[in-house]
Amino acid sequence: MTDWLPEEERLVSARMTDDDLEIDRTLRPKRLDEYLGQHRVKESLGVLIEAARGRDEALDHVLLSGPPGLGKTTLAGVIANELGVTMKTTSGPAIERPGDLAAILTNLEERDVLFIDEIHRLNRVVEEVLYPAMEDFCLDIVIGKGPAARSLRLDLPKFTLVGATTRTGLLTGPLRDRFGMAFRLDYYEPVDLQAIIRRSANILGVSIDDEGAAEISRRSRGTPRLANRLLKRVRDYAQVRHDGDITEDIAAEALAFFEVDHVGLDRMDLAILDTLVTKFSGKPVGLNTLAAAVSEDPETLEDVYEPYLLQLGFLMRTPKGRQATPRAYEHLGLRPPADDEGTPRTGLF
Ligand SMILES: Nc1ncnc2c1ncn2[C@@H]1O[C@H](COP(=O)(O)OP(=O)(O)O)[C@@H](O)[C@H]1O
Ligand SMILES: [Mg+2]
Repeated sequence: MTDWLPEEERLVSARMTDDDLEIDRTLRPKRLDEYLGQHRVKESLGVLIEAARGRDEALDHVLLSGPPGLGKTTLAGVIANELGVTMKTTSGPAIERPGDLAAILTNLEERDVLFIDEIHRLNRVVEEVLYPAMEDFCLDIVIGKGPAARSLRLDLPKFTLVGATTRTGLLTGPLRDRFGMAFRLDYYEPVDLQAIIRRSANILGVSIDDEGAAEISRRSRGTPRLANRLLKRVRDYAQVRHDGDITEDIAAEALAFFEVDHVGLDRMDLAILDTLVTKFSGKPVGLNTLAAAVSEDPETLEDVYEPYLLQLGFLMRTPKGRQATPRAYEHLGLRPPADDEGTPRTGLF
């Protein structure tokens, strides 16, 4: 193996890095027609946006959910652009006190979009302030302390809240109920990822043929962010090792070099499967134990790595814990245990 890149640089993991933020910004679609794939979501949103525009009204509050990198933040921006309004962006953990939220809300203009990323991480006190704001577009504030305290109701402009979360199950019921619509983003089909890769290549001025784009799309775990990241890595490789053009062979060679396997699993995914299969001999393992064994935090494991392994049918969630499926054994080139000692032999779910 040559040494033109240090070991860490060669790993393209499913985790987000600072570099990704930069790539995300340059490649992020602005309009609905540039937002590729997710046809069902796009279609519904397209109609609702047009209706709201036609009536000169704020769009209903929208909840977007799905694993990282599938386009939640992008879609929030697209919604604001299509509505022709300004978007203010914040995130659950960034709003520490009710006053922080009040400041944001009172600064909104009529019909603006307020995007709250990781909305499941809002604290309860702040969430309570959000309820009347979402429902009645008003803010209840308490002035003064003790017996002299009085409550004041402040009207807010009619705005649209767009909330994003990795899993809707993490939201409290009352918050979830206050969204007029909820969309779940699913992993992208390879053909949609191919289109995304071709679009990105175009913007970045990279030469890639259809087979090259197809090869990258197959290894992008259904995730646009990863597709873009792999495209950039493959471009670098093609430039240094070849003449710069990306073909199927060059893409395959580059991705092998970057240790992304043919279904898109990286070193962490493989470590997870290997831990389940070898270290715990195929028995169910609790999330925290598994996380400790692969030196990753449980939340990242659950939000970033697990969903794709579940989708591939490599991992099962059982009441006793996480377990590798026979398909995972096959992928690792191993034979599933023949006995039925807690090891599933048939279906995946
Ligand atoms: N539907 C899409 N069409 C084209 N590119 C997309 C799409 N969805 C996401 N992307 C690309 O993937 C990147 C990551 O998307 P992002 O919206 O940040 O994901 P999330 O907020 O769900 O983690 C974006 O910067 C954009 O370049
Ligand atoms: Mg995001």
